[in-house]
Amino acid sequence: MFPFRRHVVKDDSTDIHVNKRRSDPLPNPESVGTLIRTRRSIKPGQFDGRRIDDVIVREMLENANWAPTHGMTEPWRFFVFCDEVLNSLGRKLAEIYRRVTPSGAFKPAKAEKLLQSAIRSSHVIAFAMKRQESRRIPEIEEIQAVACAIQNLHLTATAYGVGGSWSSGKVICSDQFRDSLGLDVEDRVLGLFYLGFPAVPWPAGERSPIAEKVQWFRAAEGV
Ligand SMILES: Cc1cc2nc3c(=O)[nH]c(=O)nc-3n(C[C@H](O)[C@H](O)[C@H](O)COP(=O)(O)O)c2cc1C
Repeated sequence: MFPFRRHVVKDDSTDIHVNKRRSDPLPNPESVGTLIRTRRSIKPGQFDGRRIDDVIVREMLENANWAPTHGMTEPWRFFVFCDEVLNSLGRKLAEIYRRVTPSGAFKPAKAEKLLQSAIRSSHVIAFAMKRQESRRIPEIEEIQAVACAIQNLHLTATAYGVGGSWSSGKVICSDQFRDSLGLDVEDRVLGLFYLGFPAVPWPAGERSPIAEKVQWFRAAEGV
């Protein structure tokens, strides 16, 4: 264990100083908190069928591009599917599912869900980690950078009232799907992001208290 004494901190401070000059281009912390906490996963089955303006999707991608990146490798790659091509995407995923699944384990309902999820979406964004040739940055850090980019994208969607959800799994992350996107063997598809306007009221979120996941260390043991 760390040679530190654990400290229980009560978070009841009301007077929080925001370190911001008038000229600093910083947002209001309250809006940031609201945005982060209201971001929800909204799935294709909850979409209302309306199409999102491409301008909003471009804004989401632009913000995704501002994710942190070790060594400035910017390893995120996005493949945007919309309109007529959604059907082909759904069929492709259903076909990959059939190919990668032993015949005894094949569930037609799962194949149908892959198709329907794509068709019901306004846009579907496949996202991948592009491995650098130099391999200077560890792969996990490149994957983490892409996850940060997706969080940016999802938060931007939330700000526009657009629903979305990250979908992973063996079909989406398969070599077959990666190859179909023209990616290289070292690259990794990390998921699909389904986008659409919610037909349902914005869902409430749920998290267990942060206090259960944090340890504070303030004073050295025995001091
Ligand atoms: C790496 C990653 C993969 C995920 N894959 C799936 C998935 O395959 N299917 C799914 O329904 N949700 C997936 N999710 C979304 C989670 O289910 C969702 O974040 C969780 O239920 C919490 O809900 P919230 O996002 O509304 O807070 C994934 C999330 C992450 C971070």
